[in-house]
Amino acid sequence: MYQKIIIEGGKKLKGELIVSGAKNAALKLMAAALISEKPCELYNIPELSDVVMMTKLLQTLGAEVQYDKSKKKVSINAENIKSLEAHYDFVSTMRASFITLGSLLSRFHEAKVALPGGCSIGERRIDFHIKGLEALGAQVKIENGYVIAKAKKLTGAKIYLDRPSVGATENIMLASVLAEGTTVLSNAAQEPEIVDLANFLNAMGADVTGAGTSEIVINGVKQKDLKPVSYTTIPDRVEAGTYIAAVIATKGKAIIRNIFPNHLSAVFSKVVEMGGKITVLDPFSIEVSCGSKLEAINIVTQPYPGFPTDLQSPFISVLTVAEGISIVTENIYENRFRQLGELRRMGADLQQEGNKAIIKGVKCLTGAPVIASDLRAGGSLIVAGVCAEGISEISGIQHISRGYENVVEKFSGLGASIKMVDIDEQPSELILVQDENVK
Ligand code: EPZ
Repeated sequence: MYQKIIIEGGKKLKGELIVSGAKNAALKLMAAALISEKPCELYNIPELSDVVMMTKLLQTLGAEVQYDKSKKKVSINAENIKSLEAHYDFVSTMRASFITLGSLLSRFHEAKVALPGGCSIGERRIDFHIKGLEALGAQVKIENGYVIAKAKKLTGAKIYLDRPSVGATENIMLASVLAEGTTVLSNAAQEPEIVDLANFLNAMGADVTGAGTSEIVINGVKQKDLKPVSYTTIPDRVEAGTYIAAVIATKGKAIIRNIFPNHLSAVFSKVVEMGGKITVLDPFSIEVSCGSKLEAINIVTQPYPGFPTDLQSPFISVLTVAEGISIVTENIYENRFRQLGELRRMGADLQQEGNKAIIKGVKCLTGAPVIASDLRAGGSLIVAGVCAEGISEISGIQHISRGYENVVEKFSGLGASIKMVDIDEQPSELILVQDENVK
């Protein structure tokens, strides 16, 4: 049974919303729990299909994992790991599972993890991951679609990343936790999810400093130094940003709670430049609103603290109804404009030129049947759907369920007319794209 989301758009979104825990942090913390023989409790873990998938992966490796829905808590006990192989079925559908490579290598000096491969948004190489692990002393080979890494021992090293890759920073950080000596990782990714991972590892007994800057230092510790840990993950800045986009696209007004405003500084600047208003109410809540007019602006995606690529798609939806011509430049992925064709079906006037989307604002979008080709494209179509006049039917919901917790309930809570319905078959175009998507 498949599902689609039906939205009757055109209403200003109003009310309050509580942001969930960050998917891209939560999944990495779960994978990091494999490093320790001691139990971990993780809070603020969103109920998403990717979390279910990571739970299953850890269980196949031998970890005991329970999810307590009412507390949004995952308990992990990885004392008795029996397999060091992350199977293709997991890694091919969820890129975050590739991070088990660093954890398993760190603790067992051995791991076999399926290659994630490319996906619909880009090539998504892993060369920096491999170079980093080799610098720590691992022998890494690729065989039959798997990365096989082994090390007699891991020794701290100076590692420079050609580009601040989030995943490579995480894998190298994890692999260094139990290495002998000090690892200095330069040109590291600075995303809040990296800081969250470092904070979690430190709470577990690791010695990581500098996370959130371009140089991270990891002093290796011993397994016996690790201790049981209870940790709460950060709020999801991409989920928050998607709702902010929806509120301003509909010229609404809403309070967004459980948010770290400093994680969204670049996004807030762009919202204000467009004519929206952001008021920080307290350290964990903001009010977002937009008057009668949205102005065209330019956006350039960059690694953090730049404008996040994951919010490029939802903000393109906003710009389709802004006055004037906007240019959005995508610098992280080669192919993250797949939603443009769908937005065009809703009346948007836009085109792609290389890594730029040129958007000429129209007065209003009109509802249409559309397909989400990946998670954030899905977010963008919901934003477009709530602001469009008439009814939109969005298929490809399995992508959206990976990263937006209770999306229908949350949009309904802001006054959107939105529902999820079951359908017997998915559109044939969707069958072509569904296997290409890995976050
Ligand atoms: C993480 O992906 C996120 N995924 C992505 O979120 C996010 O878009 C991305 O970081 C950037 O912020 C998860 O956390 C699970 P990268 P990751 O390594 O780690 C190139 C979402 O929608 N590169 O920083 O895979 C790569 O090809 C998802 O939630 C190399 O060339 O991102 C890409 O173009 C989508 N060689 C760029 O760097 C490498 O070894 C950024 O990749 C590694 C990366």
